[in-house]
Amino acid sequence: MASKISPLKPIFEFPTSSEKTHIKKSISNPLPLLLPSLNFTITSSRAAVVHSVKSDRETQVSTLPTQVSKDTPPSPASSKTVLVVGGTGGVGQLVVASLLSRNIKTRLLLRDTSKAASLFGEQDEESLMVWKGDTRYPDDLDPAIFEGVTHVICCTGTTAFPSRRWDGDNTPERTDWEGVRNLVSALPPTLKRIILVSSVGVTKFNDLPWSIMNLFGVLKFKKMGEDFVRNSGLPFTIIRAGRLTDGPYTSYDLNTLLKATAGKRCAVILDQGDKLVGEASRLAVAEACIQALDIESTEGQTYEINSVEGEGPGSDTEKWKELFKAAENT
Ligand SMILES: NC(=O)c1ccc[n+]([C@@H]2O[C@H](COP(=O)([O-])OP(=O)(O)OC[C@H]3O[C@@H](n4cnc5c(N)ncnc54)[C@H](OP(=O)(O)O)[C@@H]3O)[C@@H](O)[C@H]2O)c1
Repeated sequence: MASKISPLKPIFEFPTSSEKTHIKKSISNPLPLLLPSLNFTITSSRAAVVHSVKSDRETQVSTLPTQVSKDTPPSPASSKTVLVVGGTGGVGQLVVASLLSRNIKTRLLLRDTSKAASLFGEQDEESLMVWKGDTRYPDDLDPAIFEGVTHVICCTGTTAFPSRRWDGDNTPERTDWEGVRNLVSALPPTLKRIILVSSVGVTKFNDLPWSIMNLFGVLKFKKMGEDFVRNSGLPFTIIRAGRLTDGPYTSYDLNTLLKATAGKRCAVILDQGDKLVGEASRLAVAEACIQALDIESTEGQTYEINSVEGEGPGSDTEKWKELFKAAENT
């Protein structure tokens, strides 16, 4: 039924006080990094291994945020294994690209596994393992997917208003509520952290102007998803994004993703209490998710995030620690 409704709006339209930024893909501060050897495996929870490619090619890429120090050495292998759910989306792509560039073992749960190859190229099976699954269906969330996974970043979502992306009943209720509930229910109790990307305004969905965006329930269902995470007993961090800018870089490859910049809007505002309105760069949201994985004070916390013009924290963990801490004191 949902697929018969004609499209109204492509994405969220957020209340915002700042002007729109243009998507910018030029490298303002190129910084070569070496990615590890490249090959990847796609695995299905319903089927056996679908695809496995190996290659020892090394690729030169550039780092994500423009402020990364030129002295930053290639990251040593991390002990984390991070499952990204929604890794083909705007934020998710940047999260995955950034994890790979940091040498963090990454797993993907995707509805369409063919997207992984075009977005992230050939990756080492150790570096990137791809599982096929749809969060709406608990049977897709096979325990094997979570074996060895230490952290989860969930950036799934669909459009707030009816669109093609609702096809097959992939509505906010099914994705932001049922999908998140199913995912969280399938996670092992040993998980060290789940990061959920949500939205500003979820606590105000009955009030104007949020009630307009919530006409089809997106904010209400995101709040239900959040509450399920909060009550799950798992260590969590929730990042509520303002209206997203920069990207999605859909259909681009890993190198392009790693060259994405937020232009002049690199500064980050973090807050708590659902008071922020405004925009957030997908780059900043992706970086906030990755930083929160390791910053202990973010456990059990919910933050709102905006991007504004100015110098940002880049990938400097100390700066992110200060930002998160400052938000907690507001
Ligand atoms: N757009 C905004 O202004 C805005 C503002 C605040 C918060 N947010 C939220 O921020 C998050 C990231 O936004 P975004 O624009 O970067 O996301 P996006 O581009 O819409 O990507 C959504 C991702 O979720 C996946 N997905 C959708 N339904 C799924 C399902 N049933 N099972 C598994 N995966 C599924 C999609 O995979 P497929 O490739 O299979 O479709 C895609 O990878 C979302 O939660 C979004 O609602 C957005």
